[in-house]
Amino acid sequence: MNNLVFENVSLKFGGITAINNVSFEVIPGRLFAIIGPNGAGKTSIFNCISGIYRPTEGQIKFGDNHLNLLRPDEIANLGIARTFQNIELFENMTVLDNILIGAHRHLDYGPISSLIFSKKVRNIEVEARKRAEDIIDFLEIEQFRYSYIMSLPYGVQKRVELGRALAMDPEILLLDEPAAGMNNEETEDIARFIIDIHEEMKKTIILVDHDMNMVMDIAQEVMVLNFGEKLAQDEPKKIVTNEKVINAYLGGGS
Ligand SMILES: Nc1ncnc2c1ncn2[C@@H]1O[C@H](COP(=O)(O)OP(=O)(O)O)[C@@H](O)[C@H]1O
Ligand SMILES: [Mg+2]
Repeated sequence: MNNLVFENVSLKFGGITAINNVSFEVIPGRLFAIIGPNGAGKTSIFNCISGIYRPTEGQIKFGDNHLNLLRPDEIANLGIARTFQNIELFENMTVLDNILIGAHRHLDYGPISSLIFSKKVRNIEVEARKRAEDIIDFLEIEQFRYSYIMSLPYGVQKRVELGRALAMDPEILLLDEPAAGMNNEETEDIARFIIDIHEEMKKTIILVDHDMNMVMDIAQEVMVLNFGEKLAQDEPKKIVTNEKVINAYLGGGS
């Protein structure tokens, strides 16, 4: 199990500073939340962790691994999985096939052996299929197993994306606004799944949201960002009474 460490990370795009000298550490087993208004730099932090963006300054470490030096696929293979703020699924594939893509992450058998379809490959396929089916049951999307993504309601699509990340059996799960665009009932459902993933599957979770309601109920630790800067980091009940946070964020009404 590895700590995820941000050390004085900055990210600039031309004149825009998306992340400004931010440091934090997520210890294994945490349910850690990052909140802040739109444009605060939350997604940029995830993009730096997963290797999509390179920090302009600073270090990101996962145990002994320097994530700044690795490609997105290498970072995923370390056990860091994510979902996206705008769902990124294969729309013209079924729910099961999308989740199977996640399940194949570390089932590496190379082109030759898959051509021969050896016993090893067959076993691997059976294992991937079983894992995908377990996750489908866990997320209660059995009836959509063979549905095409584009035909499904938004809330179900969000759940499938969560399933694909889970199928990678990651050590850390990065969830970017998992409840965005959902109604109250769908939000409660997703919150319950996140709690179960944390408590039963024992995953470390970093949860990003601009809406603090769900986060405050379920997170153990909250970091608040505003205009790329870290305003505060504390347990939820201290965050809601923090002057800086109230002024900069809650007072903003967004
Ligand atoms: N690829 C990019 N090019 C230019 N600016 C970007 C890029 N990605 C993010 N930004 C800018 O960085 C800032 C933070 O964005 P983002 O991390 O998406 O915020 P959040 O997820 O908190 O809403 C915003 O001002 C945004 O416009
Ligand atoms: Mg975002």
